[in-house]
Amino acid sequence: MLAFSVKSMLVLKTEKELKSHLSSLGDGKSLGLVPTMGALHHGHTSLVQRAISENDTTIVSIFINPTQFNNQEDLKKYPQSITKDIHILEKLSGKVIVFAPSVEEMYPQGVTSTAYRFDGLDKVMEGAFREGHFDGVGTVVETLLRLVNPHKAYFGEKDFQQLQIVKRLVQIKDIPVDIIGCPIVREPNGLAMSSRNERLSPALRKEAGIIYKTLETAKRKFGTESAKSIMDWAKNKFKGHPNLELEYIVIADEKTLMPLKGKKDNKKYRAFMAVYAGTVRLIDNIALN
Ligand code: PAF
Repeated sequence: MLAFSVKSMLVLKTEKELKSHLSSLGDGKSLGLVPTMGALHHGHTSLVQRAISENDTTIVSIFINPTQFNNQEDLKKYPQSITKDIHILEKLSGKVIVFAPSVEEMYPQGVTSTAYRFDGLDKVMEGAFREGHFDGVGTVVETLLRLVNPHKAYFGEKDFQQLQIVKRLVQIKDIPVDIIGCPIVREPNGLAMSSRNERLSPALRKEAGIIYKTLETAKRKFGTESAKSIMDWAKNKFKGHPNLELEYIVIADEKTLMPLKGKKDNKKYRAFMAVYAGTVRLIDNIALN
């Protein structure tokens, strides 16, 4: 299906439509891109609002990228809600343009990822547990940045490792864009907003608030305790929550993402967690200093 409009919202489906629309925007106008995989929530809308406030035109891409899923079941279960997403964006602002391409449009040469060298940023945490994930993310983000050619692109800090990798991607590929990291938006119990939260039962969604509580306590402890003692404490705490399985807790240098060996005053550190709540995998992180 080609481009269509939902009330005032323009939904572009192909590279050709995108290019033709972009060329009609006129010179000297700023362009912001918010890449998403749809199933939009307040985390996404905060990115879109920031993009709207900083640019003349904002494009929101909605594309469930198959190459970043290491687990095919996770891809199958990923929530799809394009009509609902478009209505959410339409309520937010009549000025947003949606780019919702097909898999064939994004991967005309076949569904494979580029192999990148991200200097080890992709080898730890999510990279260690989700093989090939960041090559998939890099491939789709590079394609989107080259197609849209925005001045600024917006990413949430919930996926902090992804944010650092995208910053590295634009450096190594020399793509002229500002990558803007935006704060995590949380549910009332502290659970980081994620499209995956929709798949949690009400009881698990409530219990998963413990992830953020653990991160907050890790932050309090960071002033006086070693990384090892904080991580051991967190692992122990999760033993009291049999419905939640802690996959990892890592305290790492915010820039290199390498696990903390010895604290240095001039470095910034973060705690990162991945937790299975039933079959739903959740990630979160917090700045420690
Ligand atoms: O964070 C996401 O939703 C995705 O990883 C992204 C950046 C849209 C790439 O598919």
